[in-house]
Amino acid sequence: MKPWNVLAATLCIGLVALLSTGTLQAQHDLGPRAGTPVVGGPYPTLNTAEQAIFANGLDQFTEVNDTVPRENGNGGLGPGFNSNGCASCHSQPAALGTSPSPTSPQVPQPNPEIAAGLSTGAGNIIPSFITSSGPVREARFVRYSDGSLDGGVHNLFSIAGRTDAPGCRLPQPNFAAQLLSNNVIFRIPTPLFGLGLVENTPDAVLKANLASTASARSKLNIGGSFNTSGNTGNITKFG
Ligand code: HEC
Repeated sequence: MKPWNVLAATLCIGLVALLSTGTLQAQHDLGPRAGTPVVGGPYPTLNTAEQAIFANGLDQFTEVNDTVPRENGNGGLGPGFNSNGCASCHSQPAALGTSPSPTSPQVPQPNPEIAAGLSTGAGNIIPSFITSSGPVREARFVRYSDGSLDGGVHNLFSIAGRTDAPGCRLPQPNFAAQLLSNNVIFRIPTPLFGLGLVENTPDAVLKANLASTASARSKLNIGGSFNTSGNTGNITKFG
């Protein structure tokens, strides 16, 4: 090998070693950090009226709906449900966040869906994919029983059997059978921090952004279109 070839080969090996070390380090998951969360508050520039709206929203978000009748500002549970309040699932590292975990250094808490599903005498079977140390999950079915595409969230639980839901006979979906036919897909809670800014981005701005990249995208055969609400025609920004 000529000296410059050896040099080039050595440099390449060095570079590969550097890159692979870098990649390995980048993949090391440190897990949730400990300490006081610094998220979940209002945007600092909100005026007094806007702060009151934020506080009211957070209040409803953290409300626990653990009775079927609506009472004491509680919006009521059921007939199908996944848990009993927004902050039950969106709680790590603070309300609006993602799923809690019993080993979290910030919100050590078992999966709250189990207690919610069994509370007050409900006859629910805890599906095998809901475990006390596992993540909060929502279940979507791939297809309906007639084979057509579904994709929707199916409530884990029914209020049937609860002492405060006399007469309700809504069956719980048969998750064991759905799992056997490979028909269940899962979602864990995405954190909602900062989504007020997304919600407040006008549709016109999003459409203008899309239009401004049209010629660059067309050269690369990249399309792009918005999902819109069937009711209002507005761009649907979440989920
Ligand atoms: C049973 C657990 C659970 C409860 C209770 C729950 N969520 Fe969620 N949330 C999820 C999951 C899981 C996702 C992700 C859904 C997906 O990707 O299909 C999600 C997604 C979202 C999103 C979309 C975020 C994005 O970036 O697109 C919003 C907004 C949201 N939830 C708000 C709420 C509000 C408001 C409540 C209370 C009324 C609530 N959630 C109650 C589990 C839950």
